[in-house]
Amino acid sequence: MKNMLIKNIGELITPLGHGALHGAAMKKLCRYPQAAVYIEDGRISAVGPESTVRAQAPQAAEVLDAAGCCVLPGFVDPHTHLLFGGSRAEEFIDRLEGVPYLELLARGGGICSTMQATRQSSEAALYAQGKAVLQAMQRLGVTTAEGKSGYGLDRDTELRQLRVLRCLGRELPVTLKTTFLGAHALPPEYAGRPDEYVDFLAAEVLPLVAAEKLADFCDVFCETGVFTPAQAERLLRAAARRGLKLKLHADEIDSTGGAGLAARLGAVSADHLLAVSDTDIDVLAASDTVAVLLPATAFCMRKPFAPARRMLAAGCAVALASDYNPGSCYTYSIPLLLALAVIGMEMTIEEAVTALTLNAAAALGEADHLGSLEPGKQADLLLLKTGDYRSLVYNTGINQVEHVIQRGQLIF
Ligand code: NIG
Ligand code: FE
Repeated sequence: MKNMLIKNIGELITPLGHGALHGAAMKKLCRYPQAAVYIEDGRISAVGPESTVRAQAPQAAEVLDAAGCCVLPGFVDPHTHLLFGGSRAEEFIDRLEGVPYLELLARGGGICSTMQATRQSSEAALYAQGKAVLQAMQRLGVTTAEGKSGYGLDRDTELRQLRVLRCLGRELPVTLKTTFLGAHALPPEYAGRPDEYVDFLAAEVLPLVAAEKLADFCDVFCETGVFTPAQAERLLRAAARRGLKLKLHADEIDSTGGAGLAARLGAVSADHLLAVSDTDIDVLAASDTVAVLLPATAFCMRKPFAPARRMLAAGCAVALASDYNPGSCYTYSIPLLLALAVIGMEMTIEEAVTALTLNAAAALGEADHLGSLEPGKQADLLLLKTGDYRSLVYNTGINQVEHVIQRGQLIF
């Protein structure tokens, strides 16, 4: 593999660490003016002031001139539902006219309508759809993403979704982590029998997912009228016994205690948290569970944002993600996500950068080798169009990424 020197970086910014940063520590970015990065075999071997890095870089290396631009770690999107069939444009219009999300789901629409379309999608069709989405995400600076199943809600389609995600992760220049979300909604076959459905997932799907190593995580949509905390706990404990790490869709619409449950189970993340209680904010802050906030979903659902400032003040480790999905949030726009985090949720630009790099990597259990620009870490980095990282939000909603490097290879 080639070695590469990136020289003439106007400013390099990165959080530092091999685990999530909590609370006030999220504001502290390391900043090097006139910087360089030296990459060997897809890993960073030196980073810092250009003179220091050049002294360590052999002559023969390929040289990329950053022309004074800003460099930062590749973005990590740790919560997406990127693989699905069909469209829910009709339902989007219904929601704009005031029909509640959970009511659409209870009518057999919502997630169940995407389930019908996904069950009818071939592996090839899903692959093509996922590939197009991931390539578009990469242009916005995403070098690592997560993708969930959860639109099959039967054995074969859940497995098909996960196999396609694994295949995309092998074949595209992106690190893709996968999540088994069989407990995303109750399929019509199990209407009125949620406990039996959870038993079915634990006994008949999870063992196959684990045996084929199809998923890194197990997740549950823990919500009023969907799955209770007790049902979520049952499935997550079964998943943990099979070696999967845990995530939870927690306290999105109602406060059900999901965040506290996630922390108690040692989950890598608790996601959404629009309705999280103050008690559970403190429980999260004292735990290693990352609070993954999805402000584009709140925006699309016309809900108040998650209380990011209260969480940061309490000392939580906060990450950001798109939640890209065909229902509640049909966007993977990183520029929009950053604008909503900073302008809407009142995070600082520095906190938002940490939340979308190192802390997002921690929400995937990958902070030891992803999410920051430090020797030994995977060389995933972005060159911006300007020398000023504040343009990420100042240029509101506009992509600022000029070049993307993943594992030391220039992909855009
Ligand atoms: O994270 N809340 C549950 N799951 C997704 C929505 C999925 C859908 O509506 O298709 C979410 O918002
Ligand atoms: Fe989600």
